[in-house]
Amino acid sequence: MRHLLSTRDLSREDAITLLDTAGQMAATQEREVRKLPTLRGKTVVNLFFEDSTRTRISFEAAAKRLSADVINFSAKGSSVSKGESLKDTALTLQAMGADAVVVRHWASGAAYQLAHGGWLHGSVLNAGDGTHQHPTQALLDAFTMRRHLVSDPTGADLAGLTVAIVGDVLHSRVARSNVYLLHTLGARVVLVAPPTLVPVGIEPWPCTLVHTLDEALETHEIDALMMLRVQRERMTGGGFFPSPGEYTRLYGLDADRMSRLPDHGIVMHPGPMNRGLEISAEAADSSRSVIVEQVANGVAVRMAALYLLLAGEEGAS
Ligand code: CP
Repeated sequence: MRHLLSTRDLSREDAITLLDTAGQMAATQEREVRKLPTLRGKTVVNLFFEDSTRTRISFEAAAKRLSADVINFSAKGSSVSKGESLKDTALTLQAMGADAVVVRHWASGAAYQLAHGGWLHGSVLNAGDGTHQHPTQALLDAFTMRRHLVSDPTGADLAGLTVAIVGDVLHSRVARSNVYLLHTLGARVVLVAPPTLVPVGIEPWPCTLVHTLDEALETHEIDALMMLRVQRERMTGGGFFPSPGEYTRLYGLDADRMSRLPDHGIVMHPGPMNRGLEISAEAADSSRSVIVEQVANGVAVRMAALYLLLAGEEGAS
């Protein structure tokens, strides 16, 4: 594997290797081995054209914990604001000797363009492109599910689990990435969304679709309930339907709906959350919530991705 662009590209074997390696990385962190020498001499560039807290910080932490040199590049304050193209930005990074470029971009397909434009010699890791893909988010979500819901996680997939993904599917690269990865790992995926927030062309996605959260809770035993952020910044066509109040009534997770999960059921959210819109504070802060743990697991998963792409087999010893 040279790049990590989409969960659709991952075989079951690739995904299991990434999750097992993340488990090993997490174990080193739990033993308080703060730094591994694995990527000493490598340079990782974080290239962010869109805002981020969790992904940007955790990629930086992951690269540093593997002893790589890290360059953080934010489009704000750079020559991108003077009109510099993605190609010329990439050529500049190549001239600086980037071994890997972690890219977040508002345009779907930008990570693929960067990987296959012929401008970079190193690896490209997609940290979220438009409404398309966010593969490391899906991997950290699967890693978190594995830890909570699978009794012997090493080498295991997620067969037999049911995962409901709820809300603004239309704008969600997290939903798309999770649908494909969870399917590859054997889980059943139920998407729950208002008809106005479902992408055109969803039919071939390997999942089922229902239109209210109550229906999903009635008709499925849900092991993991993943609430999506309502992405109001992408709703450029005149607001969003249903109204915020109606959205919360039909799709919001509150204590009553949470109580209809099985005893072992977990609550997830990729963050950042709109508390009071898609999830109540009570649900977000409950003992079922693994939302903070998802963030922590992001570092181990991103360490695994950087390690597997940059160190390869010679670094595995
Ligand atoms: N989940 C996620 O991608 O969060 P950030 O936008 O803060 O990186």
